[in-house]
Amino acid sequence: MSQSALPKRVALVTGGIGGLGTEICRQLAQAGRRVIALDLASREDRVAAFHAETSDFGDAIAFEPADVSDFDSCQQLVERIEQRHGSIDVLVNAAGITRDASLRKMTPRQWHELMRVNLDGVFNMCRNVVEGMTARGFGRIVNISSVNGQTGQFGQTNYSAAKAGVHAFGMALARETARKGVTVNTVSPGYCDTPMVAAVSAEIRAQIVADIPIGRLGSPADIARAVAFLSADDAGYITGANLPVNGGYFMSF
Ligand code: CAA
Repeated sequence: MSQSALPKRVALVTGGIGGLGTEICRQLAQAGRRVIALDLASREDRVAAFHAETSDFGDAIAFEPADVSDFDSCQQLVERIEQRHGSIDVLVNAAGITRDASLRKMTPRQWHELMRVNLDGVFNMCRNVVEGMTARGFGRIVNISSVNGQTGQFGQTNYSAAKAGVHAFGMALARETARKGVTVNTVSPGYCDTPMVAAVSAEIRAQIVADIPIGRLGSPADIARAVAFLSADDAGYITGANLPVNGGYFMSF
C-alpha cells in the first residue's frame, strides 16, 4: 500500500484550542495526521474561534471536550475517540495554566489548581493511551514543558515545579516504552506570543524580551515545528529528550 493510501494516524492535542495548541493542531494536520483538539467544553467562544481558524483543514481537525485534570473524563475521552476516529498514535500534552504569585502569597488553591492541570493532566492522558500504543507497537508522546521548568521563575514555584516534573515524568515513561515503539519527548518553549505571556505585566515582559538573544517572543509556529518534528513517524530514535525552543533565552548542554 502506498503511504497516501494508509489511514491517517490520529493525533490528540490537549489544550488544543489554546495559544500554542491551535498551531500545533494545524501543523500536525499539515503533516498528514487526523487531529483531535481536546479542551474544556466551557470555553465556548474559543471553540467557535478555533473552528474558524482551522476550517481550511476540513474534518482533518476535530474538537472533543474533556477536562485533563479529571482522570475519568480522560478515560471516557480516549474511548470516545477510539470509537469515532480510531486508535490514538500521537499524544501532545499542551494543556497548561498559570497561577503566578510569589510563594509568600501563593494559596494552596493556586498550587493545587495548577498541579491538577499541568502535571496530573499529563499522567491522566498518558495513563489512558499508553497501553494501546505499546500494544500496537507505535506511539509518539510529546509533552510541553517550559524554560521556566529549567531555570525557575520568580512568582512561579508552582509552574516551575510542574514543568520540571513533566520532563522527569517523560524521561521515566520513555524508559518504560522504549522497546515498544513508543517515544516520549519534551518541548520546552520560552516566552511566546500567546495570551498566557500577554498576561504578564508589560514591564516584566519587556525585560524578558530584552534578555532573549534572538530579540523577540517565540511564535506558536516555532513551537509547533518542534512538536511536528518529534512526533514524526521517522523520529523513532529520539526518546527521553528535551528540545528547548526559547530564542536562546536559556542555553545549556
Ligand atoms: N524578579 C525579581 N524581583 C521581583 C520580581 C521579579 N520578576 N517580581 C517582583 N519582584 C520584587 C519586587 O520588586 C518587590 O521587591 P521589594 O519588596 O524590594 O519592593 C517584591 O519582589 C514584590 O514581591 P511580591 O511577592 O509582592 O511580588 P508581586 O506580587 O509584586 O509580583 C508576580 C509577583 C506577579 C508573580 C511577578 O513577579 C511576575 O509577574 N513575575 C513574572 C511571572 C512570569 O514570568 N510568568 C510567566 C507566565 S508565561 C509562562 O509561564 C509561559 C512559559 O512557559 C514561559
